[in-house]
Amino acid sequence: MGGMAGFMYRQLKFTPKPLPVDVSLAGKTAIVTGGNAGLGLEAAKEMAAHDLSRIILGTRSLSKGETAKQEILSQSPNCDVLVWELDHTSFPSIRAFGQRASQDLDRLDIVILCAGVKLLNFIKCEETGHEMNVQVNHIGTALLSLLLLAPLQKTAKLTPGQPTRLTIVTSEVHFWTKFESQSAPNTLARLDEPSSFGQGMDRYNTSKLLNILWLRELSSKVGLDVIVNGVNPGLCASTLHRSDTTPGVNTFNKIFAWTSAQGGHNLVDAAIQHSESQGGYISEQTTKEPSHFVLSPQGKQAQTKVWNETVALFQEALPGVDLLGYLV
Ligand SMILES: NC(=O)c1ccc[n+]([C@@H]2O[C@H](COP(=O)([O-])OP(=O)(O)OC[C@H]3O[C@@H](n4cnc5c(N)ncnc54)[C@H](OP(=O)(O)O)[C@@H]3O)[C@@H](O)[C@H]2O)c1
Repeated sequence: MGGMAGFMYRQLKFTPKPLPVDVSLAGKTAIVTGGNAGLGLEAAKEMAAHDLSRIILGTRSLSKGETAKQEILSQSPNCDVLVWELDHTSFPSIRAFGQRASQDLDRLDIVILCAGVKLLNFIKCEETGHEMNVQVNHIGTALLSLLLLAPLQKTAKLTPGQPTRLTIVTSEVHFWTKFESQSAPNTLARLDEPSSFGQGMDRYNTSKLLNILWLRELSSKVGLDVIVNGVNPGLCASTLHRSDTTPGVNTFNKIFAWTSAQGGHNLVDAAIQHSESQGGYISEQTTKEPSHFVLSPQGKQAQTKVWNETVALFQEALPGVDLLGYLV
């Protein structure tokens, strides 16, 4: 794993498979963030087609969410599709989404945290002051993962022996960052400095490494009731690549990218199958090893550092909110 040649080979040779037809999700409730477009929407459609009882689409635009809802209902009219506002650039929005899930849902079985951006220029989030790839892909995802633990843990208690599921969408590109900011006194603060941004996709790649470090630490703290894993959807055609003007990128994607629906198959596979994948990294629908860095002692150190810094950041942004109460 990890090299460009291997990456291209797998994109050409592997064909993502949909969930087997006999899998029923009847009675279950799922949340998909970034559920109005791309892989998130495709994953939502696929789960709804397997008799999922209720799906909540977390979307920053309610009108886009409504359009997505109609698309799901046109194929799966019996699914209860809800559209809830969620903006990863706003701590109050993320918190409100988490509170709504805790208060309004009688159960929550499956969460796919998919919302993400790929930005090749340094942009600061106006509301939080953090660099935008890190804000949306890591900080927003990490905060929501903590806020959704309460309903996931409560649902797991209803059916002992049947853990609920939390899947974070990461990427193979986590292999490709040097992650120089790991040695800064505060890694997250360093990532907010323009001089740390790096070339091309490096910052996006770093944000996807942060996803893996976060989910591995989270998985070690959630106990047996919730399975936390990460999925590499593979390179897929979607609006994610809209701001990538690297010469040749469109041709490369035409040759190597899977469809969004195929990426959606990979998300659904990771979130429904693989019941033994606590803390795992799933790529091509198989649990695989993440990068050597992640598995190294240095990677473990970075994992603890990123966890501590991220939690400290949340405690500062949301004083008085108990975010760690559902960890064991
Ligand atoms: N496509 C690939 O090749 C690929 C490969 C590896 C990993 N991934 C990962 O897969 C996930 C989904 O990507 P995709 O390819 O489906 O891209 P996409 O079609 O651009 O979808 C991204 C979703 O995230 C939402 N989003 C963006 N910023 C947000 C914010 N501030 N708050 C809440 N939601 C926000 C988008 O909403 P709007 O529609 O309003 O923008 C959209 O629903 C991402 O995490 C990405 O990193 C994708």
